Amino acid sequence: MTVITSIDDLKRLYKRRTPKMFYDYAESGSWTEQTFRENSSDFADIRLRQKVAVNMEGRTTASEMLGQPVAMPVALAPVGLTGMQRADGEIKAARAAETFGVPFTLSTMSICSIEDVAAHTVKPFWFQLYVMRDTEFLEGLIERAKRANCSALVITLDLQILGQRHRDLKNGLSAPPKMTPANILNLATKVQWGMEMLQTKRRTFGNIVGHAKNVSDVSSLSSWTAEQFDPKLDWEKIQRIRDLWGGKIILKGVLDEEDAKRAADFGADGIIVSNHGGRQLDGALSSIRRLPPILRAVGDRTEVYMDGGVRSGQDVLKAVALGAKGVFIGRAFVYGLGAMGEQGVKTALDVIHRELDVSMALCGERDVKNLGRHNLYVPANFEGEWA
Ligand SMILES: Cc1cc2nc3c(=O)[nH]c(=O)nc-3n(C[C@H](O)[C@H](O)[C@H](O)COP(=O)(O)O)c2cc1C
Repeated sequence: MTVITSIDDLKRLYKRRTPKMFYDYAESGSWTEQTFRENSSDFADIRLRQKVAVNMEGRTTASEMLGQPVAMPVALAPVGLTGMQRADGEIKAARAAETFGVPFTLSTMSICSIEDVAAHTVKPFWFQLYVMRDTEFLEGLIERAKRANCSALVITLDLQILGQRHRDLKNGLSAPPKMTPANILNLATKVQWGMEMLQTKRRTFGNIVGHAKNVSDVSSLSSWTAEQFDPKLDWEKIQRIRDLWGGKIILKGVLDEEDAKRAADFGADGIIVSNHGGRQLDGALSSIRRLPPILRAVGDRTEVYMDGGVRSGQDVLKAVALGAKGVFIGRAFVYGLGAMGEQGVKTALDVIHRELDVSMALCGERDVKNLGRHNLYVPANFEGEWA
């Protein structure tokens, strides 16, 4: 049995155990992947300030996100096709998050449906909404999330049109995978993945199939997005969605101060500083670099979260010390899921938690809520001077 000591260990196992098409789908950014890379490498530019001879007994990472208690300020980000990374992946990830005590966000483009996840969990989860042209379907989705008792709606604003990820096109990404000779050869080496997939009925988009009308080819993510996502999404439409929903709202994909102010004026309960994990606008700045100016722009008018490139507890510490109320992890939990299923997601959370706890202690902090700028060395020009 491999001893797992880091998120990287999980990633290695994940790569070995998952069909290439789905590994590539997660491990890609758009076009040159510059933003994807910098999301992680920019974290490395920030350093931690070591403190000694400070009582480090009785530490806590407990905090709140959206008024909800969390075991640490980390939530699982919405990830489409999670149920292709491992059979029933969304249910497994949601259960691991629930056991650990952090929020789980279900993607519109999930394999397990809203109802499936609700039936296999106890606590309310968050639902991520992609805004579709088909009003009836959109309203139906919101209604279903309400009925499933979801406690927040995360509206994603940065994917009304799909950024190109070369490998998805080359691999012919679909759910379920098409039985081409290359896929058959690759799937033959992923025995456990295949056995588990054969035992589940959940192999295509559970929130869509049987709910949306006139869907020509739901298995293809790119054609579905181009056909169905609403390019006319604007603040007026977001307002209409809020009226329909009537509950807490998080706006995801904010990277600009002006947009952040607009979101705060709108009264969003939270925003996620995000570039969609470098999967949309290649050439955009990393989320961690955009976090400080956005925090300055909105102050405490809304809760500010971030995602993109978080692979360790040290990364969580850095984002929280800069002022984020919490971070979302995407790939880090997918690695765990693909490596070891539900237990793997739990392991990913354990790894991050341990790293956060020990790093906090070595920074001389006992309470995650006391983390601040004083714990960091941030390069003078970290945000960059851009004209
Ligand atoms: C494979 C994959 C699928 C994703 N699908 C969605 C999605 O369906 N909805 C959404 O809002 N964001 C989606 N995202 C973006 C994540 O929610 C999150 O912003 C991103 O993964 C954060 O970066 P990280 O993976 O470096 O943690 C996806 C990301 C990945 C890697």
